[in-house]
Amino acid sequence: MKILFIGDVFGSPGRDMVKEYLPKLKTKYRPHTVIVNGENAANGRGITEKIYHQIIESGAHIITMGNHTWDNRDIFDFIDKADKIVRPANFPETNPGKGMTYATVGGKEVAVINLQGRAFLPPSDCPFKKADELIEQARKRTPFIFVDFHGEATSEKQAMGWYLNGRVSAVVGTHTHVQTADERILDKGTAYITDVGMTGPYDGILGVDKEMILKRFLTGLPVRHDVAEGRMQLSGVVIDLDDKTGKATKIERILINDDHMFFE
Ligand SMILES: [Fe+2]
Repeated sequence: MKILFIGDVFGSPGRDMVKEYLPKLKTKYRPHTVIVNGENAANGRGITEKIYHQIIESGAHIITMGNHTWDNRDIFDFIDKADKIVRPANFPETNPGKGMTYATVGGKEVAVINLQGRAFLPPSDCPFKKADELIEQARKRTPFIFVDFHGEATSEKQAMGWYLNGRVSAVVGTHTHVQTADERILDKGTAYITDVGMTGPYDGILGVDKEMILKRFLTGLPVRHDVAEGRMQLSGVVIDLDDKTGKATKIERILINDDHMFFE
């Protein structure tokens, strides 16, 4: 079992990169399941129904979200009928959508769980307790359990990795948009990386036009957050799992930009 995960798709540059490179990554790595974080896919904030379908048509099986889940109001019209999208499971119970779903590809089922951190992010329920609850459910169906932990603090993401070590196949961090070089297999068989990184503009600041963000830092005044133009990048990981136990055997970072060329 092999899972390809693509980190935070940011605006139209991110979607263009997925469209161009996902077919090439599929040819190169032959993943069974493709998971994409799409919480910044609509102009950097949230997702629309049209973009949801566009990312699925590009070759993703499941889309995960994060703190920008509700920023594009379009989501309220489709999330409850869309079966390929998850939002953080530790949002209030009454929120639309769900925090765990299953992708079935080639007769194999992968549970995909989305959680959000509580350090430097808006209040939410405990992601650790919510993880316990969902893992108990998922393990009755499949040994393949994938967690996208959307968080700001490295310490909280590492804590989640160790907390779920041996109980899930992978814990990948998202949200901070810069790929970390700490990919590893924890000692009980869970693949881990603090942040997969962002897919979208390469010359912005976390995906946003750098002049606007610079103005904010230099003047302290509020600024618009337009998606940066110009060169683009793709960030991801590919994770190999043991077919019987669901434990991770390998994790490899993928980074495609002008400084890290893609080889087919
Ligand atoms: Fe985020």
